[in-house]
Amino acid sequence: MPNQQSMSNEPSIGQPISRLEGYHKVTGTAKYAGEYNAPDLLYGYIVNSSITKGKIKSIDTTEAKKMSGVVEVFTHENRPSTAWFDFQYADMDAPPGTVFKPLKDNDIQYNGQPIALVIAETFEMARYAATKMQIVYEEEEFETDLNASLDLVRKPKKGLASLLKPPPPKPTGDFEKVYQDSFVRVDNHFSHGTEHHNPLEMYASTVIYEGNGKLKIYDKTQGTINSQLYVANVFGLKMKNVQVISPFVGGAFGSGLRPQHQLFMAVMASLALKRHVRVTLDRAQMYLIGHRPPTLQHLKFGADQRGKLNAIYHKAIGETSQFEDYVEIVVNWSNMLYPAENVRLEHEIVPLDVYSPLDMRAPGGSTGMHAIEVTMDEIAYKLQIDPLELRLINYSEIDKSSDKTYSSKELRSCYLQGAEKFGWDKRNPAPRSMRRGHKLVGYGMATGIWDANRIFGRAQAIMTPDGKVEIKSAVTDIGTGTLTIMTQIAADTLGMSIEDITFSYADSKMPFAPIQGGSFTTATIGPAVQNACHALNKKLFKLAKNIKGSVLSSSKLQDVIFKDGFISLKNNLDQKISILEIFQEHGGEAIKTTNSAMPNPLTYGKKAKAVHSAVFVEVEVDEELGTIEVKRAVTAVAAGKIINPKTAESQILGGMIWGISKALHEETILDHQFGRYMNANLAEYHIPVHADIQDLEVLFVDEEDHFVNDLGVKGVGEIGGVGIPPAITNAIFHATGRRIYELPIHFDKLL
Ligand code: MOS
Repeated sequence: MPNQQSMSNEPSIGQPISRLEGYHKVTGTAKYAGEYNAPDLLYGYIVNSSITKGKIKSIDTTEAKKMSGVVEVFTHENRPSTAWFDFQYADMDAPPGTVFKPLKDNDIQYNGQPIALVIAETFEMARYAATKMQIVYEEEEFETDLNASLDLVRKPKKGLASLLKPPPPKPTGDFEKVYQDSFVRVDNHFSHGTEHHNPLEMYASTVIYEGNGKLKIYDKTQGTINSQLYVANVFGLKMKNVQVISPFVGGAFGSGLRPQHQLFMAVMASLALKRHVRVTLDRAQMYLIGHRPPTLQHLKFGADQRGKLNAIYHKAIGETSQFEDYVEIVVNWSNMLYPAENVRLEHEIVPLDVYSPLDMRAPGGSTGMHAIEVTMDEIAYKLQIDPLELRLINYSEIDKSSDKTYSSKELRSCYLQGAEKFGWDKRNPAPRSMRRGHKLVGYGMATGIWDANRIFGRAQAIMTPDGKVEIKSAVTDIGTGTLTIMTQIAADTLGMSIEDITFSYADSKMPFAPIQGGSFTTATIGPAVQNACHALNKKLFKLAKNIKGSVLSSSKLQDVIFKDGFISLKNNLDQKISILEIFQEHGGEAIKTTNSAMPNPLTYGKKAKAVHSAVFVEVEVDEELGTIEVKRAVTAVAAGKIINPKTAESQILGGMIWGISKALHEETILDHQFGRYMNANLAEYHIPVHADIQDLEVLFVDEEDHFVNDLGVKGVGEIGGVGIPPAITNAIFHATGRRIYELPIHFDKLL
């Protein structure tokens, strides 16, 4: 499709180009993992444990196997030996502990644990046969209630995951003393419910059995190479014999960061039966894999008369499973923002009989920042200081928790521009002072912060004799706009128009990319694409110089520009050589280069790196009904250079909607009598509908960060969600004078 938004003689970076794959998505031609077909494809349906803890005494598959169309039933009793269960393996997002091993033995560790896989010629047949299984359990006592198990609290083990999820920094100063002596003290307890990702696209893996131990797998994942590593390691296959492809991902938000059991099941069956196999989960089964854990938080903030914080205590307790120590960064943020000298931060976990929690958008950040920014709001009220003013009083150019300066921090501009756009000055500071008809109106604000991470990535650039370029990287595009912005980055680096560039991605055979998460994809893969394009330019230039009688023969790389199919001298644009001519001289062969990019290990750790936001929200509360409406919200974001304002805005809007959802709607309820989630469906798991989403505005303040990378980008995604829940909570207080310390805030909490 022609993309009419681009103009070849203008830089593509900075233009609001629509998603290049948008046409495929809206016309239904985009194929998702569970939609790839193959001749004689077999279908798997997973049987789940109906108890929470205990043993399978017997599992009788006779009747299920007899049914027409049923090919095989796998349980722990006949699990093929291809799976390496003694092998210690951790995926790229695994917390410390032991990766869950489906069908390992007869042990049941959580409700809904997969205990069998029925393979049949149709999905319906497999699902029906699954009801014919005869399973006898021996039940044991279990515990799923965080509040009832606080005696089990302990520190998490350290592990691989702490690279991107550092433990809380060591205490500084003397918190207890300074807190006791503080002019104003706030002591708050917060409680957050469980949430599930609920992407539109459900977990699915279609495994194409190519013979000789070779598999091609269409998987719902945020990391093709992560799934490839899992399959190769767990099943003892050669890496080159496992190809994982995932060009379209129908929502992820963290749900696709780890290989999950449907992938294991599909591969196991495919290898055992030497057939093509697809395993998909249904909506209810989506609640059996990972979730944002419920958490309890305790905060004590002390400030002086002017509002300057001098003592910070923040402790979080999160749920985890019995086999992995899942942690998220709940408590590290306050001292990154506010430079108090006396600080104690702690994060502990309680192992329960549940499946491991899983990163869910802005893991830890959206939980911790809610508690921090609501506590800040209370300090503002106690001292009768405007909440925005209180943030400015505590503004810091350094990250006090590490005593490092920020690589860039335009948060002040976010506060000021966001406040201006919102009309914060029209707020009457007194609670219950603003009304519209019979409804109470409240204004609330909050700060957002998220890590600006960058890791290692690779990309390849291939120019063909027609002068067109293909860029390759194994990275996925989980709906964020990665395909589009990588195309823009390549176009500008090569001096070409985006129409002449194809970005090929989401295939594990392509150059290495880590999982797509943590808002670090653009900062990680963008520089790899840029490096590959620079290297391609260099090769072309060398060839151009070597052409007989070349006008560039005595020039250097920095003397030329690459533009619209020519290499020209900067100070004399008529002196140029066309790319087509270079190819003729080169013998018409494609020119390829593969390059890596990573931060400089000697300098990268010397600065603190974060993205920031300021959020302003207006709510209307109907006191008689308890209903809360978010009438409008403004998020001002500082996230480094914005490659594509349209896809970046969509990211932030999505985050804001998720934030509204977290504040007012989403919660999975566990029945501790059964150890099972009771509202495992989209009718009873509340998410916002159109009427819940009203006037949302995003603005990006000017910021470039050339410390993180040459492109100047940091990254958007999670930052869209972190500031909204506290801003809503604070607006509800302003409207009603009622402070709610639990999320979600359903109307019953206001009655
Ligand atoms: Mo995000 S929770 O790293 O997909």
